[in-house]
Amino acid sequence: KKKIAIMTSGGDSPGMNGVVRACVRMAIHMGCDAYCIYEGYEGLVRGGDLIRKMSWYDVRGWLSEGGTLIGTARCMAFFERAGRLAAAKNMILHGIDALIICGGDGSLTGADRFREEWPSLLDELAANGEFTTQELQPFRHLNIVGLVGSIDNDLSGTDATIGCYSALARICYAVDLIEATASSHSRAFVVEVMGRHCGWLALMAGVATGADFVFIPEKPREDNWREEMCSIVEHHRKIGKRKTIVIIAEGALDREGNKITPEMVKDLLADKDGLGLDTRITTLGHVQRGGTAVAYDRMLATLQGVEAVKAVLEATPDTKTCVIAITENKIVRKPLMEAVQDTKKVAKAIERQDFDEAMNLRDAEFSE
Ligand code: F6P
Repeated sequence: KKKIAIMTSGGDSPGMNGVVRACVRMAIHMGCDAYCIYEGYEGLVRGGDLIRKMSWYDVRGWLSEGGTLIGTARCMAFFERAGRLAAAKNMILHGIDALIICGGDGSLTGADRFREEWPSLLDELAANGEFTTQELQPFRHLNIVGLVGSIDNDLSGTDATIGCYSALARICYAVDLIEATASSHSRAFVVEVMGRHCGWLALMAGVATGADFVFIPEKPREDNWREEMCSIVEHHRKIGKRKTIVIIAEGALDREGNKITPEMVKDLLADKDGLGLDTRITTLGHVQRGGTAVAYDRMLATLQGVEAVKAVLEATPDTKTCVIAITENKIVRKPLMEAVQDTKKVAKAIERQDFDEAMNLRDAEFSE
């Protein structure tokens, strides 16, 4: 019987529990044993009761739970070879030779490195006398499949990461709440949203709430952004708008690559010699990441979880590590490292302030 293990890694995202549920149940449906690795890579390195066999009923009700019920952790030990060796040993002790990992690009890169190193880890385990060559024979090929769980929607090669639409819904809901009080007092609000180096959440929240102005990392405004923002807000006020909403991504930059902070924007809106608006800052923080998944993320988690198990079962020793993506509403498999490398290209373009290139790359991601 094939033994497939599932783990969640990196920052949690709504929908991760749906992924685990789908993988566990699909694995069982296909006649395999399903395992969960608790606490991300930490569980793989420490083994013991952090690696647990799951039954069909163990994941009952998980679709409607937020966060990740099997836990996640930032594991330093897995960055060291000794940690990866311990991880390999624990997998073999449990008879596991296939891993499904749901996480962001960092977690998935770690997974690919683990797979690359796998044969040499087995050799070392044999040389240390932990297992005989015969015992290791069934484990010669490690299958790894990635699923992208992140609220940031920052991975190239997929239209939506699992969790991003839940976070977006949460932001829209929060902005709706803020708007009521903003309107009552005729105030301005600068709303900071998450996304790390990616502006997708901010941009889409701007579109979905009809915000007055948006700042994102990939496309800093021209040098005159102060005048531009103030004149737009002034115009909106003149035509009768009683509230002002400016959405700023936590990674927002100006064209020199300097951070634009909510405080800078607030000071500008509140400037007595300018608009003089009574302005507040709201940092939405982790409310964006917590809570239950919206229907889209539950659907994505389930369809992609099923596909991940299929990918594991169909993999041959020559199959590259793949990531399950959604493009143009189709669930597809893509080479993991290509998606990760394309993602890094955007970050590099932003770093060297080549914002046109950053935008082109982001556009390409969504028109693939
Ligand atoms: O990657 C998800 C994310 O929520 C980012 O949007 C944010 O920058 C980061 O994680 C926050 O990390 P932490 O939960 O460790 O503070």
